[in-house]
Amino acid sequence: MTPTKYRFSQSSVDYYFDGSFRDLAKITDRKNAIIITDENIFTAHHDKFRGWNVITLKPGEAFKIQATVDSVIETLIAMQADRKTTLVGVGGGVITDLTGYIASVYMRGISFGFVPTSLLAMVDASIGGKNGIDVGEYKNMVGVIRQPSFLLYDFSLLSTLPLSCWSDGFAEIIKHACIKDAPAFSILQKENIQSLQKDAKLLSTIIIRNANLKSKVVQEDEFEKADRKLLNFGHTLGHALETQYELTHGQAISIGMNYACRMSEELAGFTGTGKVREILHQYGLPVDAAFNMKKVLEIVKMDKKRVRKEMSYVLLRKIGSGIIHSIEVSKMEKLLMRIHQES
Ligand SMILES: NC(=O)c1ccc[n+]([C@@H]2O[C@H](COP(=O)([O-])OP(=O)(O)OC[C@H]3O[C@@H](n4cnc5c(N)ncnc54)[C@H](O)[C@@H]3O)[C@@H](O)[C@H]2O)c1
Repeated sequence: MTPTKYRFSQSSVDYYFDGSFRDLAKITDRKNAIIITDENIFTAHHDKFRGWNVITLKPGEAFKIQATVDSVIETLIAMQADRKTTLVGVGGGVITDLTGYIASVYMRGISFGFVPTSLLAMVDASIGGKNGIDVGEYKNMVGVIRQPSFLLYDFSLLSTLPLSCWSDGFAEIIKHACIKDAPAFSILQKENIQSLQKDAKLLSTIIIRNANLKSKVVQEDEFEKADRKLLNFGHTLGHALETQYELTHGQAISIGMNYACRMSEELAGFTGTGKVREILHQYGLPVDAAFNMKKVLEIVKMDKKRVRKEMSYVLLRKIGSGIIHSIEVSKMEKLLMRIHQES
């Protein structure tokens, strides 16, 4: 195995794109490692966990909360985890966000690594060091930016990923294409979930391309002062929708991208909304839903990208070229209300 190394401000991260779960024992010392996973992944891959210390959590976003953090910390104390312990998050974005956060606060910080098991975690959630939890209606309200020491990719884990979760991963892949990678947008236009599930080589190429794209953006701007904000395309409205309605992360972000495209038409001369909507449909994602925009805007106003009366909103100039647009909160509210009424 040859890792691809990304150096960030405080540490470097080894990405093993050519590995398999079996290689975990070569990367981290089994005796000092504790795996954190969820019940679905444990059930689907229980053989792989044999011989490892494992903490198994209930699956789902509803458990990405402080109560889970507290209970894992109590378990870690009971297991006598110490500064030499490495936590390994084996799971989707909920598990990687939780594991990175717990490892960052336990004993003021111990080392951690990830084996992402969902498409979304492989291309997005496990990369970039943002780890955290939700607080009530507010997504990722509490957290840290701290990098894992390794990411081990085993693409075969995707064979048990429920079909409904594939679209969620593609929402982030389409997001990357929209903001920074027009050629990838063209590749995706020619494919769909079924064709990519059958073409393991192309799928892994797409995953690696996306992992590299996100890593480079983060490397340039780890603490989100500039370009990293582009990764929030679709997320301002999306996060607010996700916490209030029965939508997955990908579905909420997809609707958020559609609204951001419509805003881009008005504010940045964007003409590609039709193409973006088409590709989202193609990958099984919604572009709208029945929701109360007034209620959603109350949450949007608490977004981390708001500074006093100004919000940084990610728009598209064209496909493959995202921009950060600063907009007055009151103007943003009026525009989003109008777009919602028109849709
Ligand atoms: N930290 C970041 O930068 C970042 C970026 C994007 C998203 N996120 C977070 O990621 C989360 C969403 O991630 P997700 O979509 O992976 O959700 P998830 O972790 O809830 O996983 C989705 C479902 O698939 C199951 N699953 C995952 N991999 C499986 C496998 N290989 N086999 C069988 N079942 C499997 C899980 O048990 C779960 O039920 C959200 O909380 C979001 O905020 C974080």
